[in-house]
Amino acid sequence: MADREVDWPGYLADFHARRTGVVEDVLSRALRADHSPYRWLARAVSADATVVLDLASGSGPVGRELARPGRTVVGLDLSTEELRLARRRGAGPLVRADARVLPFRDGSVDVVTSALGLVVVQPLATVLAEVVRVLRPGGVLAAIAPAVRPLAPTDVRQLGGLNARLRARPRFPGPIERGGFRPALQEQGLTVVEDKRERYRYRVTTSDDAALLLSALYLPHTPPARVASALDYLSETAERRGPVDIAIPVRRLVAIK
Ligand SMILES: C[S@@+](CC[C@H](N)C(=O)[O-])C[C@H]1O[C@@H](n2cnc3c(N)ncnc32)[C@H](O)[C@@H]1O
Repeated sequence: MADREVDWPGYLADFHARRTGVVEDVLSRALRADHSPYRWLARAVSADATVVLDLASGSGPVGRELARPGRTVVGLDLSTEELRLARRRGAGPLVRADARVLPFRDGSVDVVTSALGLVVVQPLATVLAEVVRVLRPGGVLAAIAPAVRPLAPTDVRQLGGLNARLRARPRFPGPIERGGFRPALQEQGLTVVEDKRERYRYRVTTSDDAALLLSALYLPHTPPARVASALDYLSETAERRGPVDIAIPVRRLVAIK
C-alpha cells in the first residue's frame, strides 16, 4: 500500500489548502532543550546575511526566526493558502512561485534556507541548480530535512507502535535520509560544510496533541480509519502512562557556493 504511486503535486496542493499551517504548528512544538528545529536552522545563517530566500516557506516560520533590521527574508511557496497564512502570521515579502523556477536574478541572494523543502520539491537536482544560480559566490544553502536517526530504543518502540496502527510510514515526495544529499549538493558545485542530526521531541499529553501531530503527516493512501486507530493508540497511551514524547529526528545541512 505505502509504495503505491502518489500524485504528489495534487496531494501537496490539497494537503496545504486544507491543513494550512499544520507543519509549522507541529514542528514549532518539536523541542530539543528549549528550541525548535526552525531555530536550529536559523542559527546556521550568518548575522551579516542581508538577502535571504526561504524555499517552500509554508506559513513562514523560518522567515520569522530570521527577521532582523537590515535583512530581507523572502518567503517562496506554491500554496496560496500557506502564503496567506504566512502573511497573517507576520511574514516579510512573499512570492508565489515554483521552487524549480526561481524568479530571482543570478547571484542575487546571500543565503537560501529551506525547512523540509529539499524532500518535498522534486527533482532535487533541478531545485539545487536553481539555488546555485541565485546564490552569490560564497553564498550559503542551509536546510533541515526529516531524518531516521538519532532514535533511542524507546523511540523505535513508540514509532513502531504508531506505524503499526497506521499500517504505513509518513512519506515525502523525495527520499529521506538519502545518501544522495551530499553528492547532489556537490554535483551542483556546492561545498558541504555541515551535515548534522539531532533528535527533537513532540510531547503528546492530550488527544488534541495527538490529532495535531497526525494531521501534519503526509499519509497518501492511508484510510481515515487507520489514522483514527493511531489517534486512539497515542491518546490512550498518554492517558494511561502520562505524556508520550514522539521523537522527530532532524538533519541540518549547510553548503557554500
Ligand atoms: C512540509 S511543508 C514545509 C513548510 C515550511 N517550510 C515549514 O517547515 O513549516 C512543504 C511546503 O512546500 C511547498 N511546496 C510544495 N511544492 C512546491 C514547489 N514546487 N515550489 C514551492 N513550494 C512548494 C508546500 O506548499 C508546503 O508549504
